[in-house]
Amino acid sequence: MGIVLTGGTIVTAVDCYQADVRLAGEKIVAIGRDVSQAEDNVITVEGCYLLPGGLDPHTHFELEGVTTTADDFASGTAAALTGGTTTILDFATQSKGETLAQALANWQSKAAGKCFADFGFHLAITDWNQEVCREMQRLVVEDGISSFKLYMAYKHNLQVDDGIILQALKRSREVGALIGFHCENGDVIDVLIQEARSQGKRSPRFHALTRPAAVEREATARVITLAELADAPVYIVHLSCAGALQEVIAARARGLEVYAETCPQYLILDESCYDTEDFSAAKYVLSPPLRSTYDQAVLWNGLRTGALDTIGTDHCSFNYEGQKELGREDFSKIPNGIPGVENRLGLLYTYGVLTGKINLQQWVAFTSTNAAKLFGLFPRKGTLAVGSDADIVVWDPRQSSTITVSQQTQRVDYNPYEGLPQTGKVEQVFLRGQQVVAQGKLCSKEPQGQYLFRKPFPTRKV
Ligand code: URP
Ligand code: ZN
Ligand code: ZN
Ligand code: ZN
Repeated sequence: MGIVLTGGTIVTAVDCYQADVRLAGEKIVAIGRDVSQAEDNVITVEGCYLLPGGLDPHTHFELEGVTTTADDFASGTAAALTGGTTTILDFATQSKGETLAQALANWQSKAAGKCFADFGFHLAITDWNQEVCREMQRLVVEDGISSFKLYMAYKHNLQVDDGIILQALKRSREVGALIGFHCENGDVIDVLIQEARSQGKRSPRFHALTRPAAVEREATARVITLAELADAPVYIVHLSCAGALQEVIAARARGLEVYAETCPQYLILDESCYDTEDFSAAKYVLSPPLRSTYDQAVLWNGLRTGALDTIGTDHCSFNYEGQKELGREDFSKIPNGIPGVENRLGLLYTYGVLTGKINLQQWVAFTSTNAAKLFGLFPRKGTLAVGSDADIVVWDPRQSSTITVSQQTQRVDYNPYEGLPQTGKVEQVFLRGQQVVAQGKLCSKEPQGQYLFRKPFPTRKV
């Protein structure tokens, strides 16, 4: 017995058309007319869009530091599903002295048995050495981890230097991996923070003032240069400003293989959130910080023209009470990050599609398809096609709501988009053929998310 979704409009990264979809087992087995068979469960989805399940390539669940993120893999992936995201890629982060295998085992154990959505990991390398270099290949081949991350900021725990970046990029090309970079100049930021503190500047708005756009632009340009020297592809995570985007565009014009991700917060929120001496601005302390409305306009244009590839949330949630408050006396002690895994599709539909900034197909491309391709999951994930996993979002464009913390599934005490109107709603979600969201609410009793073994990144032939 299968399931047939009838009467809806299928939207993929390239198409928009009316057809029925038949699901059997974990897969899509037919798309077209009259696809139902005897005993199928036929569900009418008239007036709704059918989208491939969202893929969020950037989350941080159960990230431990001075304090541990509010969302773990259970609440984070449950929130992802209710927001129409059926796959997340989180960052397994190496601690100093650890092997990559140990880091991965640690993150696998955090996620084991808890994920409501399918999941995979990028491996964040913080302690480079020859063994790590060898391990990169094992991870690609044996663990299906074809992407890594390096930090150019967070000088005291995560940052790596340019020599390491160059070596890692060369290695990524050899092993068939793509490295994502957090592009901010951590050395410069460290000096700016010390200067601000010594001048008694302690409120949250100084977080943004000590991480100006120029430090992001510089780091973006530098990593692109290093990638050029290494002859390797590169992926820029959470790109937030016009200057960094201009570097990406210029690099592509030179023929370099540069990909870039932005986030809903950089498209929808802006630096006016810091226009207060009040500590509540800590809710918007993330890195890179929110930028100007000019930067926003440039990012939207980058989406429209294809200069940006993906939209990840960088979901990294800390409660305002008790967690953000750790920085009450000193902005540099505010844990960095904001929630958003639940709101990505709704925000991009309301503020992107309905305003004409992007079209329906681009909405799907940026929230699902492009990341599936870059991170070795396409066509299993990222599209609606016969043979693909039956990860399907039933999106009702007629419904509207207001974003509010009291209605959210993510387990954090505020929502950075509080009070914003949203049009359209995730009505139902299927994960590998199982209904996991019904009438907008999570309905799966058990976490059914599976670990995803991903394909290598294809090396461009020269
Ligand atoms: O502020 C942020 N973005 N926190 C999460 C870690 C990172 O830099 O991606
Ligand atoms: Zn980052
Ligand atoms: Zn320092
Ligand atoms: Zn991040």
